[in-house]
Amino acid sequence: MNPAFWKGRRVFVTGHTGFKGSWLCLWLTQLGAEVTGYALEPVTEPSLFDAANVASGMNSVIGDIRDREKLTQTMLAAKPEVVIHMAAQALVRYSYQHPVETYEVNVMGTVNLLESIRSCDSVRSVLVITSDKCYENRERDVGYKEDEPMGGYDPYSNSKGCTELVVSAYRQSFFSADHSVAVATARAGNVIGGGDWSADRLLPDMVRSFHAGEAVSIRNPGAVRPWQHVLEALHGYLLLLEHMDREPQDFAQAWNFGPEDADTQDVAWIVGHFVEHWGNASWHVEPDVENMHEAHTLRLDCSKARNELNWRPAIDLELALKWIAEWYRCYYDRDDVALLSQNQLEEFQGMVTR
Ligand SMILES: NC(=O)c1ccc[n+]([C@@H]2O[C@H](COP(=O)([O-])OP(=O)(O)OC[C@H]3O[C@@H](n4cnc5c(N)ncnc54)[C@H](O)[C@@H]3O)[C@@H](O)[C@H]2O)c1
Repeated sequence: MNPAFWKGRRVFVTGHTGFKGSWLCLWLTQLGAEVTGYALEPVTEPSLFDAANVASGMNSVIGDIRDREKLTQTMLAAKPEVVIHMAAQALVRYSYQHPVETYEVNVMGTVNLLESIRSCDSVRSVLVITSDKCYENRERDVGYKEDEPMGGYDPYSNSKGCTELVVSAYRQSFFSADHSVAVATARAGNVIGGGDWSADRLLPDMVRSFHAGEAVSIRNPGAVRPWQHVLEALHGYLLLLEHMDREPQDFAQAWNFGPEDADTQDVAWIVGHFVEHWGNASWHVEPDVENMHEAHTLRLDCSKARNELNWRPAIDLELALKWIAEWYRCYYDRDDVALLSQNQLEEFQGMVTR
């Protein structure tokens, strides 16, 4: 990536108080971008947003993506050149309990965002973050490519498939005529990293249990997912946006960002290796208490990003798990986790900067 591209650039990030959004804003502010964020208050306590003092380097606006008027006014005031849309109800299990909210936030929230962009002349490039779960999952061992059918069994996954369709319609209907705004989508795998405390996610579940001195209870030890460190996906997003700025027509498309095949592992592998990095921790398999469908196998084919963006993962899963254990240890030991986050970012950026 090219750090100079981001220096002084005005970037609008939705979902900046969340796990991925916080890392993204830390990175963008470190690069010298002028960042405005729009999201609800952090949903978890603790949160990376508060722990790493993310708000200090940016203009943080608390607002609901369903409030189109406020969203538009905030965007018009920020005059962004780049928009990165991450605000979402991001949890599969929550979506079974709150399907209407999930569709309202994820699908209509994206419609609201695109409508706001239509009235904001400064915007040149937009990246909408969906998910690897947007594909119609056929439980196969071959990775999905970008042109395969959208689907989604549960409301969360399906809302991300719907979001992809919304973006596609807006791109063709409103943004393609004069190529004034380039709109792309990114489908990343399961991202992991320090500072995630979301419910029902593997790494946060382990950290909560281990910190409490308890064994962690694992639901689906055989489930295979494309795991990757959060900075890998964010690097893909930033690189894609740099390309979109240069050649909007060629890059305003859908993109997969996932790990090397060797890092598409099952849950038991992740747990076993994280336990080694944490030390003095244990786990067991949860008895089958409820029958909520979760996909068994999910792989992404990322050859398009590798070939056309020259993007590839910079660190392997083993190093990612080491960094994550260090991050949470630092937090619970009350050391300077903001500084550690900056250091991890700098180390990673050194690996991906030309
Ligand atoms: N974490 C992953 O493994 C993963 C994988 C694939 C895709 N994604 C996608 O990446 C994006 C970020 O995920 P995350 O892990 O950081 O999730 P997160 O839950 O940590 O953060 C979600 C963000 O969206 C905001 N938000 C939620 N509802 C809102 C509303 N009504 N109005 C305004 N803001 C609202 C929250 O305030 C928060 O800032 C989401 O779109 C998610 O679907 C995440």
